[in-house]
Amino acid sequence: MSPSSATPSPAHLYADHLAVLAERSQTALARAGLDHLVVPSGTLHYQVFDDRDYPYAVNPQFKHWLPLTRNPGSWLVFTPGQRPKLIYLQPRDYWHVVPEAPSGYWVEHFDIVVIRRPEEAQQHLPKNAARCAILGEPQSALGKYGAYLPNNPQAVLDYLDYHRAYKTPYEIAMLREASRRGVRAHRAAERAFRAGASEFGIHLAYCQAAGQDATELPYHNIVALDTHAAVLHYTEFDRLPPDPVHSFLLDAGASHGGYASDITRTHAHDTASEFQALIDAVDRAQQAMCAQVRAGFDYRQLHLDAHLALAGVLRDFGVIKVAPETALETGVSAAFFPHGIGHGIGLQVHDVAGFAASDHGGTIDKPEGHPYLRLTRTLEPGMVVTIEPGVYFVDMLLEDLRDAGHGDSVDWDRVAAFRPYGGIRIEDNVVCTVDAPVNLTREAFAGLDAG
Ligand code: GLY
Ligand code: MN
Ligand code: MN
Repeated sequence: MSPSSATPSPAHLYADHLAVLAERSQTALARAGLDHLVVPSGTLHYQVFDDRDYPYAVNPQFKHWLPLTRNPGSWLVFTPGQRPKLIYLQPRDYWHVVPEAPSGYWVEHFDIVVIRRPEEAQQHLPKNAARCAILGEPQSALGKYGAYLPNNPQAVLDYLDYHRAYKTPYEIAMLREASRRGVRAHRAAERAFRAGASEFGIHLAYCQAAGQDATELPYHNIVALDTHAAVLHYTEFDRLPPDPVHSFLLDAGASHGGYASDITRTHAHDTASEFQALIDAVDRAQQAMCAQVRAGFDYRQLHLDAHLALAGVLRDFGVIKVAPETALETGVSAAFFPHGIGHGIGLQVHDVAGFAASDHGGTIDKPEGHPYLRLTRTLEPGMVVTIEPGVYFVDMLLEDLRDAGHGDSVDWDRVAAFRPYGGIRIEDNVVCTVDAPVNLTREAFAGLDAG
């Protein structure tokens, strides 16, 4: 069976998705004692003292309802018991390409009003702005004296954001598409690397294969050759490749209808090298971590277990000389793995409510000494998370480690041997289910290989 016939398309799952959003919104409004959910898609933002606009970023609360990412000035209105309404801005404008007339699988589910100027939206919004939960940014305010100013009631946001972690089958299907697109582009990027391209050239090959411009991708591509891989958020694109070239770390995703993938792979130039063996060991450890994405499992524990696993790899390769437990306690593992094991993913690469204790608010703290973990919740079916362990050779952190008196825990000759390669990160997007996890990234790579 082909994957497309095995998995229902987003279009077939959309009505049920909307029903879930309607139910969640009804509860959220009841908690705030309000009648209407009103969500502006957002506006264009301009550079200071200039008429240049920044790339438009749609309000995530809006794209949760609609796969529309290029429609500034539109509004979603939901009143429990009624069909959702879309106020759709299609300006009269000969300077720019304006949005097409509404079309697609989502159209039949909305009452749609087309407006030509942003201000016209007001006449189609609920009459009493005081009865509305308006979710958005201040710039979206409409009406005399800003009557329709986003008020972002905390009770509404707490409820919706908490539940946004639980993806509907429609959302999983959208994430699956985003993964497929990203994986295709990863393969093209690896080919460009093997052909000797620069970071910039690899980035262009990636965009070409993804069919997405840098502003359409869900985050800035990280294309790192050699020691650049030791800079966690390396966002430069060198125009010339290093000579010789040792390694390639690519952290790049793709978008689909507003949903993101977030994928990292690391490649050795010499596939017979010890660095390749280290990549393979991290890859094996990463797959064991992905298998921990099970309902009821505490993501904080997953992060701590990852430290132990990566410290074990480093000891096997002779880089550190202490037991994994000691490495975790003393901060030795954190010097080599200085970020969180991952985060929720969905409409945003780093999904909201990673620390939410409940749908009434509250915070689940990060484990002491692990400030960069972005998710502390217990995994439940429907959650989609990244699993992204890494091992890096960062001069600054290794100096700190030595200064803190842990120099004896490290074999510095081994560090020197691996330092030219920068580091390794391997990142997949994994769905927690009632049963075994579904790894969207590995599934997409396997699908590509199967042709
Ligand atoms: N690409 C950003 C991250 O992995 O979190
Ligand atoms: Mn990433
Ligand atoms: Mn990530």
